[in-house]
This record gives sequence, C-alpha cells and structure tokens, in this order.
Amino acid sequence: MDGNGRWAQQRGKPRSAGHQAGLKVTRDIVEHCARLQIDALTVYAFSSENWQRPEKEVSFLMELFVKAIRSELNKLHENNIRVQFIGELSRFSEGLLKEIKTATDKTANNTGMFLNIAVNYGGRGELVSAMSDIAAKVKNGELDVTDITEKTLTEHTWLAQCPEPDLFIRTGGEQRLSNYLLWHLAYTELAFTDTLWPDFDGTELDSIIQNFSSRQRRFGQTGEQVKAS
Ligand code: FPP
Repeated sequence: MDGNGRWAQQRGKPRSAGHQAGLKVTRDIVEHCARLQIDALTVYAFSSENWQRPEKEVSFLMELFVKAIRSELNKLHENNIRVQFIGELSRFSEGLLKEIKTATDKTANNTGMFLNIAVNYGGRGELVSAMSDIAAKVKNGELDVTDITEKTLTEHTWLAQCPEPDLFIRTGGEQRLSNYLLWHLAYTELAFTDTLWPDFDGTELDSIIQNFSSRQRRFGQTGEQVKAS
C-alpha cells in the first residue's frame, strides 16, 4: 500500500493525511475483495524497517491502527472475515496488542476471507522465526531433520493457514518486494502500478485481476503442457 506520503505531499498536507486517506481505501478494497470471494488478502501496513521513520509518523500510525481496529472490527466480523496480524507483534504497545487480540479472537471462527494485516513484518524475519521454531522441535525430538520439507517450513510461517498468494500488487510506482512475503511469493504473479495507494480503487483492482486472469501460469511446465492439462 505504497504512496500515502507522496499523495499527501502533492496536496501540501502532512504525511499523516495520506495514511488517513490510505486507511479509507484499505477499507474499500477489503470489502471489494470480500465481495469477489477472494480467499485471503494480505496488506502491508507497517514493515520491520518502518520504525526508522520520524517518531511522529510512527506514533501516528500506531494510533491509527488502534482506532482502525476499534472502528472496523464489527463490520469485518459481520462480513465473516477472519482477521490475522502477521509480524513480530511483541514490539507493540499493550494497548495495540489488546486490540489485536480482541480482533483476532472475535473473528477466529469466521469462515470467510482471511484478512492478514502485516505489521512490524519482514519476510526475512518470518523465515528466521519459522526456522527457529523448527530447530527447537528438532532439538526436543518432536521433529526429525529428515522430515523437514518445504511444507514443514510453510506450516511454520505466519501464513500457515492461508493458500499461497496468486497475485501481488504494489502501488506507488516502485518495482521491488521490500522484504514482503519472500517465501510465499515464489510463484505469485506480480503487478505494479504507479497509482498512489490513496488513489487506488476497486475499478483498478478489477482491471489488474482481469490482466492476471489472462496470464498463463506455467509453474515450470511448458505452455503446451499447461494447455493440455
Ligand atoms: C506506505 O506508504 C504506507 C504505510 C507505511 C502505511 C500504510 C497504512 C495504511 C494504509 C493504514 C492501514 C491500516 C490498517 C489497520 C490495515 P508511504 O508512507 O511509504 O508512502 P510514500 O512512499 O509516498 O512516502
């Protein structure tokens, strides 16, 4: 969800106004994806590197997360959405952790779309966490080294419950992954748009999905093999 800061600066507003506008778009896109019956939507709200931003912006974002969870939770629950937070959560304030727990617990038994909110998230950190959990299980005899497969690693990531992502979308004009979902994106189709996140909408999402649907996903096979199957 890149481009909030630039969107605000272009309008002579503080960066916080961009995040506020970005939140509104996030709400619309979550609803849009739920209507499209998408299995899982994962949004990058705060990276493990974002702590380096000015203290004022970091605290604004933390307050925005608390307020957003409080104001959106009932609607998300009504829409049968399962909310999960992925990332190193222990660094957050007690207040935010409480909201995170409330949202996760309240929606845990829902059966609709997974909404994964990545906060203090880094793809490398996620892999280190998975590997460390696996190592601990090998050490206590719960797991044998020869049992470790790609599936084992997936099961120890923070997205263990979700299907692999089909489509990655980055707004804001940059064409990089920025430490996002490194393990999960192995076969994901990538889409980049210059649109700044606060200007993104359901119409553009539909058009990206339409383009995605026309792509041939070969997963290592030849085009002929894919057509034949
Ligand atoms: C990146 O744009 C955006 C962020 C770091 C914050 C994203 C957060 C939201 C959209 C709020 C969503 C809240 C919830 C709870 C899901 P940037 O600031 O890096 O933009 P720039 O590259 O133009 O500076």
